[in-house]
Amino acid sequence: MAVKRKPLIAGNWKMNGLTKDARALAGGLAKRMAKSKSPAFELLICPPAPLLDFCVNAVKGSGIKVGAQDCHTAEAGAHTGDVSASLLRDMGCGYVIVGHSERRSNHGETDKLVRAKAEAALTAGLKVIVCIGETLKQRNAGLTLNVNRQQLRASLPAGATASNTVIAYEPVWAIGTGKVATPNQAQEVHSAIRKSLKRKMGASEGDKTRVLYGGSMNPSNAAELLHLPDVDGGLIGGASLSVTDFWTIADAA
Ligand code: PGA
Repeated sequence: MAVKRKPLIAGNWKMNGLTKDARALAGGLAKRMAKSKSPAFELLICPPAPLLDFCVNAVKGSGIKVGAQDCHTAEAGAHTGDVSASLLRDMGCGYVIVGHSERRSNHGETDKLVRAKAEAALTAGLKVIVCIGETLKQRNAGLTLNVNRQQLRASLPAGATASNTVIAYEPVWAIGTGKVATPNQAQEVHSAIRKSLKRKMGASEGDKTRVLYGGSMNPSNAAELLHLPDVDGGLIGGASLSVTDFWTIADAA
């Protein structure tokens, strides 16, 4: 019998939003969540770090989880401008995204660093969303599956289980571009990721681990993607900045 994986609908706000926007977004989602009885999905918002505390309070009691977009590898120390996983946990975060392609390209983050961040997060008691994905050049060169397998192998934290780790497949060419992977393209990569996870974590854990799709997911394409056999939710950027759009996507799950 196929295992049931509860879809995770995660909003990556990136560097967007002021306090007033967070009030409207987090508050609006909390109201919708309160009205929906035992939703079939888990809802997560990942605001910019300075808005985490505000959002944790805004969604308190609603069941919505709050996560960060990055963390440092160290628990504390001389790392100006960085934030530790233990502080995120202490503030009430449940998750942290690591290895987003914007961090990999804008900050030169390597698989090795991403794995170290993920391990620091697990040690602090956070769940991690590990992002992987190929560029257009790699896809056109026929390297899609190899690149994703390699990134997964090198970024997956030691101690990863189905309950503490989520993988997000985000083709770089689909992020913020309006170009979305076709269902066939998404399922092909998700199924390869699932196979790799089973090999690395054991068949049962690999089967239970959620693999999200990310890259221009919106209310009109969400249902088709979210109903693919190996897609267990979404990591949503642009469309997570609207209560209605984000909620419509969640509802499609
Ligand atoms: P997008 O971003 O939905 O705006 O394409 C997704 C992401 O980068 O996580």
